[in-house]
Amino acid sequence: MKSLTQIPLVSSPPQQQRRRCGWSTAGNPRRPTPTHLSFALYAASPSLSASSSPEKPVVVVGSANADIYVEIDRLPLEGETIAARGGQTLAGGKGANQACCGGRLDHPTYFVGQVGDDAHGRLIEDALRSGGVLVDRLARVPSAPTGHAVVMLQPDGQNTIIIIGGANMNCWPEDLRDEDLEVVRRAGVVLLQREIPDRVNIQIAQAAKNAGVPIILDAGGMESPIPDELLKLVDFFSPNETELARLTGLPTESLEQITYAVEKIHEKGVKKILLKLGAKGSVLFVEGEDPIMQPIIPASVVLDTTGAGDTFTAAFAVALVESKPMKECLEFAAAAASLCVQAKGAIPSIPSRAAVLELLQSFQEDATTK
Ligand SMILES: Nc1ncnc2c1ncn2[C@@H]1O[C@H](COP(=O)(O)OP(=O)(O)O)[C@@H](O)[C@H]1O
Ligand SMILES: [Mg+2]
Repeated sequence: MKSLTQIPLVSSPPQQQRRRCGWSTAGNPRRPTPTHLSFALYAASPSLSASSSPEKPVVVVGSANADIYVEIDRLPLEGETIAARGGQTLAGGKGANQACCGGRLDHPTYFVGQVGDDAHGRLIEDALRSGGVLVDRLARVPSAPTGHAVVMLQPDGQNTIIIIGGANMNCWPEDLRDEDLEVVRRAGVVLLQREIPDRVNIQIAQAAKNAGVPIILDAGGMESPIPDELLKLVDFFSPNETELARLTGLPTESLEQITYAVEKIHEKGVKKILLKLGAKGSVLFVEGEDPIMQPIIPASVVLDTTGAGDTFTAAFAVALVESKPMKECLEFAAAAASLCVQAKGAIPSIPSRAAVLELLQSFQEDATTK
């Protein structure tokens, strides 16, 4: 049996990779300003076809959280009050992370989600805006607090986390707002995760599917089984190795075991599985084809892997909507995630398009001189 450790951790790219990929280093000149895009989506005549838009946006539908970090020497005992050594509150949540990644990578990106009418909601909105995300579809619900997580950091590196779903899990309309569904129908790609109710994801996926918009479902979030109804609507399903094992109830230690587990997901109707394997890289499985392996692009220093998976999935989505071939989508995602692990935090560590292209270029130049 081929062991996973036999997947090269860092390989020099094969011949066909040793070319400049077709990315412009000059950023994305076609990127419309937010106002222009909103106008195109909402104010244009009904005859405006989706294809007449200069560039179809990435639409991320999902969670936004305020992550409240507290540094403590130990967990408090029952009934005890202790003082933290420090603390800070940062915007996070898988949906917001992925949307910020689309924005930082200079692709027009909408975030569809809910926050409460409170200070945490404003913190998230500011973080999304500064990440270049279009927030027209961020709803502020009056009757639930913004989703938040209390992350207790202990000196030994142990994290104890309490999550309050708040507006991520509650107060979604029975039938989603037509404006939200319209953004989804006009998207170039829709990105979902599992930190909002399944029924919301299903409605969004149904609208995207009917409009022929590709859907990527990141497996991160709730640990409950994924409804078959949702799985059969998605084009790409993206778990990491632990999520794949949990969802299939199968081991995922070796490539052979992974391949078997992936087949079980294919049987649910998902043709493409984008598997993230941490420092072992990633693999794209397309049903009936040979898997495409993508080793990591080495990081000079690994500081914090928080958000690496979100960055990887969202960067893949950006390359996909820009019509790059699969191999280039994987390389672009690996480069973005490699830069993400080199800085602390989730949203603060998401790289810019220029940084990703620079890393890809130097990696390819290194490979050609070897
Ligand atoms: N140590 C690392 N060095 C470089 N890239 C990494 C490293 N760890 C993770 N990555 C990149 O980030 C991607 C996603 O990380 P992974 O841990 O698999 O996702 P998740 O956060 O969902 O568990 C990997 O496929 C890889 O490309
Ligand atoms: Mg991981």
